[in-house]
Amino acid sequence: MARRPIVAGNWKMNKTVGEALTLVREVRGMVSMVRDKVEVVMAPPFTALPAVAKAIEDSNIGLAAQNCFWEVSGAYTGEISAPMLAEVGCTYVIIGHSERRQHFGETDETVNRRVKAVVDSELLPIICIGETLAEREGGRTLEVVTRQLTGALSGFDGAQAARFVIAYEPVWAIGTGRNATSSQAQEVHAHIREQLTSLFDREISQQVRIQYGGSVKPDNAADLMSKPDVDGALVGGASLKAADFAAIVKAARVES
Ligand code: PGA
Repeated sequence: MARRPIVAGNWKMNKTVGEALTLVREVRGMVSMVRDKVEVVMAPPFTALPAVAKAIEDSNIGLAAQNCFWEVSGAYTGEISAPMLAEVGCTYVIIGHSERRQHFGETDETVNRRVKAVVDSELLPIICIGETLAEREGGRTLEVVTRQLTGALSGFDGAQAARFVIAYEPVWAIGTGRNATSSQAQEVHAHIREQLTSLFDREISQQVRIQYGGSVKPDNAADLMSKPDVDGALVGGASLKAADFAAIVKAARVES
């Protein structure tokens, strides 16, 4: 079964509304030729979502938010809910990014609650999992990603999970310029798919797209995405430069 690759740009806390519009207009022109062969997604900061939503109308680019709270509304100063994100045109929400786990106390349990909120609003999660350097060096990579994956997917059935996107992002590769090798990525991606088979079944696990993230750049993207279980990329730093992001989109392996 051919899975359509998905390349998403995680802008993190970068770009004012004006800067976002400049970037999205550039990217839009550069990625139009991939049409629907590669799913292209941009995740600007909350403030830029409405403007970016307008700027990608009638294009092949989709919109993601970088996080959301699990309650729908209420006295949660500073939080943004999933229905608010659906209203401004998001399709996806990135959940459980390692920066949120590291700096904002995100746990497997809060990731699961957020995924539930995303699904309740008919949005789709991009669920980030990945080990730290100490965990990799301690030989615990597969155990850690299994725990994170199982926690995030708790309470969901296969039909729901089949549409989720999983992003394998080794923490030591994020923003460091030190990407996982394509064989390191493939090993973990294949393991994640096996876990999906045991949580659900093979038909489901074959549908789930698993992105690699962590220092993806134009010069390593094709190699990483050439691997059979690497179905695209979650791109941080390189998504802030239109030409680099477009080059990564074009490097996705497209099966005919
Ligand atoms: P990076 O970030 O591409 O800058 O390493 C990836 C991510 O955090 O999603």
